[in-house]
Amino acid sequence: MRQKIAIIGAGNVGATCAQRILERRLADVALVDLVEGLAQAKALDLAQASPLEGHDGTIVGSTRYEVIRDAQVVVVTAGLARKPGMSRSDLLEANAKIVQSIIPHVVQHTPQAILIMVTNPLDIMTYCAWRLTNWPTHRVLGMAGVLDAARLRTFVAQRLKVSVKDVQALVLGGHGDSMVPLPRYTTVSGIPITELLPEAEVQQLIKRTREGGAEVVKLLKTGSAFYAPASSVTEMVQAILKDEKRILPVCAYLSGQYGLKDVFCGVPARLGSRGIEEIIEISLTPEEKTALTASAKGVRQESETLDALLSHAAA
Ligand SMILES: NC(=O)c1ccc[n+]([C@@H]2O[C@H](COP(=O)([O-])OP(=O)(O)OC[C@H]3O[C@@H](n4cnc5c(N)ncnc54)[C@H](O)[C@@H]3O)[C@@H](O)[C@H]2O)c1
Repeated sequence: MRQKIAIIGAGNVGATCAQRILERRLADVALVDLVEGLAQAKALDLAQASPLEGHDGTIVGSTRYEVIRDAQVVVVTAGLARKPGMSRSDLLEANAKIVQSIIPHVVQHTPQAILIMVTNPLDIMTYCAWRLTNWPTHRVLGMAGVLDAARLRTFVAQRLKVSVKDVQALVLGGHGDSMVPLPRYTTVSGIPITELLPEAEVQQLIKRTREGGAEVVKLLKTGSAFYAPASSVTEMVQAILKDEKRILPVCAYLSGQYGLKDVFCGVPARLGSRGIEEIIEISLTPEEKTALTASAKGVRQESETLDALLSHAAA
């Protein structure tokens, strides 16, 4: 039987994800959007590209959630994107309402799926989805670290004039200004960039990575990045569908790892057919540990804001 992916939100990230998944021949796609005609139109357009791209994947678009039934992985990209001058946190209340309207349908139609959240603010929306699904934590995760690491990899490769294929990077923490890029674990064919660049230049690359999303938002003016985010989601979807056991930085529920408890935060994890199969604990310097703890503290504070919103909605 062919595998199936559901994507909720047929905007920039959602539709580009659908395209990448089809063109990598990973699975059939069901695309859902609130806006009448949008998911249908994009599905039709993508289907009409299939003879030219040479794949047999099918895609349906709808406003109705019945189409997602039996999907192995559900990706939620529905929600408002940032505009210039906005932080991801500015989206919290509006996007929490959107996520609240979506998750009951996901639970009803795909009770066994693995859920990947993309909607910002990412860590809080992943927590929100987990609370609303009540699913085991290995089946609810968020995409951020793969994207942040890809940005750092790009900047390192451009600066050192080396192939991006040889650059690996690791970014932990929340998906925001407090993210924790780790230069010691950012390497070119195994050589840490701290051996290849002066400290000041390493810091510049880290700063640009932290502000990588804002740099695109400022240039675009009407929305946020979507090509690299869609590729990042596709990498995670592929790791799950093909049971690849990839070690990727993902937003995951922590139950004591890194000294952090009851919070969703970016950490390296092994991704396979069960979703998050293991959270990998690496050794951190005291400075790195402090930065990760501070980042998780920020996520926890926003999670408390979300708790208040959810209990207000339930009252
Ligand atoms: N985690 C990350 O690294 C990352 C990266 C890029 C974007 N994002 C986030 O992803 C989200 C989507 O970004 P985008 O650029 O695709 O935005 P977009 O505006 O292009 O698309 C969002 C889509 O969601 C749909 N939508 C809104 N409410 C809905 C609902 N209740 N049900 C179904 N669909 C609904 C809209 O109609 C729209 O088509 C934003 O919150 C953005 O901040 C996260």
